[in-house]
Amino acid sequence: MTSSPSAVDVDAVLALLDAATATDGVRPVSEDAELRLRHGSPGGHDLVVHDDGALAGYARYDDGAAELVVHPDHRRRGLGRALLRQLLDLAGDRPLNLWAHGDLPGSAALLRPHGFTRARVLLQMRLPDLAAADLDQRPALPDGVQVLPFSPGRDEEAWVRVNSRAFAWHPEQGRMTRQDLERRETEPWFDPDGFLMAWRGEPGDDGVLLGSHWTKVHPSGDVADEPVGEIYVLGIDPDAQGMALGRALTDLGLVHLRERGLRQVLLYVEEDNTAAVRLYESRGFRRFAVDVAWHRAPAREVVAPSSGG
Ligand SMILES: CC(C)(COP(=O)(O)OP(=O)(O)OC[C@H]1O[C@@H](n2cnc3c(N)ncnc32)[C@H](O)[C@@H]1OP(=O)(O)O)[C@@H](O)C(=O)NCCC(=O)NCCS
Repeated sequence: MTSSPSAVDVDAVLALLDAATATDGVRPVSEDAELRLRHGSPGGHDLVVHDDGALAGYARYDDGAAELVVHPDHRRRGLGRALLRQLLDLAGDRPLNLWAHGDLPGSAALLRPHGFTRARVLLQMRLPDLAAADLDQRPALPDGVQVLPFSPGRDEEAWVRVNSRAFAWHPEQGRMTRQDLERRETEPWFDPDGFLMAWRGEPGDDGVLLGSHWTKVHPSGDVADEPVGEIYVLGIDPDAQGMALGRALTDLGLVHLRERGLRQVLLYVEEDNTAAVRLYESRGFRRFAVDVAWHRAPAREVVAPSSGG
């Protein structure tokens, strides 16, 4: 076994991610981590481990957060533990958060002995029958508010500002920058018509953005055999909350996805975000899967068992 923190073979890592997805039924890294890997974003650490000359494991560490996967053909040989040790070294005295997508049994078994505890649960909810959903096609909007598609080059600043206010409490979403947004604008799935912006007044003039609903469409084969829609980011400025704008934007986005012929929709939401979970349940969404963030306090306070691998 060899491991290396140097430049990684991105195509080989993507093939490993595909193999794990096919076996586990869930993608082992977040969309954001995968985008950073593909675009060679600076700042994070990509770790790989080889077994019999083949790429057998991959981990990404970025500012105290990490993800880790071992190829299904190379599991239970100590590679996961070896990558975990490298992640713990990178974290040093700082806390480490590790995402376990799908909450698979191996993740808990690997992490618990190293002092990790379940810290956050991210729900994936699904709406299995969009055609049958009871949606308001023309929801009432607050006075003077209009909903328009996202306009690239004009709306970025306003969106980043409202997103950071709406998700100020959220460790990842609230930190999205203009560059993170522009990286997504170059993705093949990006569609300004499915990115709905609620403005009071005229955008670009003295209009004020109150909230937005950004939808996404996963192509066939990505999460299901058929294309699947997503409520990708729904955010309402704190000053505009309580006006039923969230419900109106949810329905308008879902109507857009229905008009595109989609039959299923998914979304991710923090399990303890009861307001959002209730809104989505009222539209017919149900729990489908969970991702768990495991947290480990600074290394000095925890004694990890010694082991081979
Ligand atoms: C979780 C994962 C990374 C483990 O990788 P691995 O290389 O198989 O793990 P190791 O061989 O280093 O296992 C170390 C210990 O973890 C435990 N363990 C790992 N997988 C396990 C499983 N499926 N069931 C029970 N215990 C398991 C065992 O105690 C094991 O020690 P042992 O083999 O001596 O009994 C791998 O299953 C994987 O990639 N899963 C999908 C992605 C994922 O869930 N990532 C989150 C990781 S935190």
